[in-house]
Amino acid sequence: MELTNKIAVVTGVSKGIGLELVKLLIEKGTIVAGWGRTAPDFSHANFQFFTCDVAKEDSVENAFQETTKKLGTDIRILVNNAGFGVAGATETFSSEYWKAMFDTNVHGIFYTVKRLIPGMKAADEGHILNVASIAGLNGVNQFAGYVGTKHAVRGISHSLYMELRDFGIKVSTIYPGSIQTNFFDDIPGVQANENMMRPIDVATTMLQTLETHPNYFVADVECRPLRPKGKK
Ligand SMILES: NC(=O)c1ccc[n+]([C@@H]2O[C@H](COP(=O)([O-])OP(=O)(O)OC[C@H]3O[C@@H](n4cnc5c(N)ncnc54)[C@H](OP(=O)(O)O)[C@@H]3O)[C@@H](O)[C@H]2O)c1
Repeated sequence: MELTNKIAVVTGVSKGIGLELVKLLIEKGTIVAGWGRTAPDFSHANFQFFTCDVAKEDSVENAFQETTKKLGTDIRILVNNAGFGVAGATETFSSEYWKAMFDTNVHGIFYTVKRLIPGMKAADEGHILNVASIAGLNGVNQFAGYVGTKHAVRGISHSLYMELRDFGIKVSTIYPGSIQTNFFDDIPGVQANENMMRPIDVATTMLQTLETHPNYFVADVECRPLRPKGKK
């Protein structure tokens, strides 16, 4: 899709790959509504922040109403990036964290897509990009809940692309390996480090996935650090 002057919603924009993608979209001339709990340290005439906890449907509805009031309903791009993971042995794992991961990483996607699909259908053009993880492709020790959420993202995305392709709407999924972000603040024993991917590289791939010919659809993108343990 040609990105200039299109309106995009990106969730989870305070930091990490969400914020990097916002900056790249703004450089392309896209008008970006950032939906998140925390505002980023970034301002631009084409960027507006809307408070939104994607885990709560009333909060998503409020962000949607505020966004359409300010920018109109012709929103062509939705990037479901907000997400988090908590690790730990399942037998002692907090039920609250388990549910919170599903509320954010899975149900949050339902709350956003159901509101933005009608505008994309009306325009006969749209792109939904869901951020999964390589944890959406295989199991990870001590990470059953998070892995469950990201497998759900994969299944939801693939079903949505079948449902929406005839309406001119692409649904893509990205499966990144480890990225140098604050994601690892919640994961004991792992710290973001320079052997992980740079957020700018992942965001660039996300941008390239969005910026394709209308009849060219990238369904899945898997990306990993080449040398995750450094040079041997
Ligand atoms: N880092 C990795 O290695 C990695 C690998 C594969 C996939 N991913 C995925 O990439 C996505 C972005 O993560 P990141 O690495 O950029 O991590 P990050 O730096 O921790 O950023 C996560 C963003 O999501 C927001 N967020 C979390 N829960 C939210 C909620 N309920 N409502 C609204 N916003 C919420 C955070 O906002 P607050 O500032 O308010 O917390 C923050 O802006 C996530 O879906 C993650 O699962 C990350």
